[in-house]
Amino acid sequence: MPTPIATAVPITHTGILGLGVYRPRRVVPNAEIVEAIDSSDEWIKTRSGIAARHWADDTETIVGMSAAAARDALTAAGIAAEQIDAVILATSSQMVLGPSAGAVVATELGMHDTAAYDISAGCAGFCYALADAANLVRAGQARHVLVIGVERLSDLLDTDDRTCAFIFADGAGAVVVGPAEQEGIGPVAWGSDGSRTSAIKQDKDFAVYFAEVAEKGADAVRPYIRMNGTEVFRWAVTFLEKACRAALANAGVSADALDAFVPHQANSRITDALVRTLDLPDSVAIARDIAETGNTSAASIPMAMEQLLRTGAAQPGDTALLLGFGAGLAYAGQVVHLPPIA
Ligand code: UT7
Repeated sequence: MPTPIATAVPITHTGILGLGVYRPRRVVPNAEIVEAIDSSDEWIKTRSGIAARHWADDTETIVGMSAAAARDALTAAGIAAEQIDAVILATSSQMVLGPSAGAVVATELGMHDTAAYDISAGCAGFCYALADAANLVRAGQARHVLVIGVERLSDLLDTDDRTCAFIFADGAGAVVVGPAEQEGIGPVAWGSDGSRTSAIKQDKDFAVYFAEVAEKGADAVRPYIRMNGTEVFRWAVTFLEKACRAALANAGVSADALDAFVPHQANSRITDALVRTLDLPDSVAIARDIAETGNTSAASIPMAMEQLLRTGAAQPGDTALLLGFGAGLAYAGQVVHLPPIA
């Protein structure tokens, strides 16, 4: 008989205790980018719902934006930094492979000896990290977990690329996950399909780029984010109904019992299609942060939640379906009770 090993003491229910966001200072309206991609404000608004986006300046780093969002999330939750046991940071645009941005953010926030790590699941990253955090708390492995979704996608943008230049943007959102009296984070429905990585991807490995620099010097072409917009769009409007229904079923919540729907802000036409397919009643508040924020990938869901709460379209405690989806192709969704904001 092996030596018995104690197990952590699980807790029953978790919730999102507070939410904060950081929106970069520089607002970039469609007018600023249309010339390089031979487009128009009207085309971009009609085909994607985007009127403007925020692009970070040199001082608005992944770590800085994350720390700013996290400070507001901690304030909203009424939790001090030293009460956080783990930091999970979701991003696909951190250019430094090590150490994790999460560890640097934890120290920036004044935490000491706190578990911290990054995850990469594209635009589903925040919902993956939220599931991870809820499971850590439920399993008794951490009492409070800080979850951050953050991107500086402008660093990966080819501003001449008609498919990507107008879509992707920068920002950060953070939540504190901890124990709750009743369940506030339903079981996740998630998945991925690595056979379809070409639909959204970084088009070149940095190591390949550096080899090209050695060979061709200034003629080497750096890596950029690329997307087959039509392929991703079709997948989103045909496959993701299943993911939404699975998340609702996992939580035992029917679509007409929702107060809010917060899909990843990829394209307002994808949001419209999901609302129609799920037959959501008019009483459900629909997150439409994309108009002013663009597609901020792992940051989009917390930023869209914040917009619903700040404008009064939804209230803390409301029941919301979250759905992240994108590169991977990966998706993750769960039903939550919306948190307070700072
Ligand atoms: O966050 C990760 C998940 N990402 C997404 O979910 C993005 C999903 N995809 C999309 O949002 C859309 O596919 C786009 C917004 C990227 C593109 O919209 P679309 O309706 O799929 O455009 P399309 O590529 O089918 O092109 C339609 C037309 C074409 O012209 P013709 O052949 O019909 O004359 C394109 O040449 O629009 C033209 N077009 C543009 N026109 C002005 C394509 N891009 C542009 C542009 N400006 N930027």
